[in-house]
Amino acid sequence: TLLDVVVNQDLNIEGFGACEGTLTCSTCHVILKQQDFDRLPEEASDEERDMLDLAYGLTDTSRLGCQIT
Ligand code: FES
Repeated sequence: TLLDVVVNQDLNIEGFGACEGTLTCSTCHVILKQQDFDRLPEEASDEERDMLDLAYGLTDTSRLGCQIT
């Protein structure tokens, strides 16, 4: 997942991925370019959508970084 990349590359993004991918935060919220959003292999699950609803600045191309591969 994108969260794995951030962790494995030791990227220092303050607060990103606070729940470590257990879908209980929205700190991994990312806003994708439309063309990147369209290339994702899977749509957001109901659980991801529920958590996205709590994300700050939600857009039509928002996803949670811990859920996208
Ligand atoms: Fe918490 Fe993605 S890391 S929902």
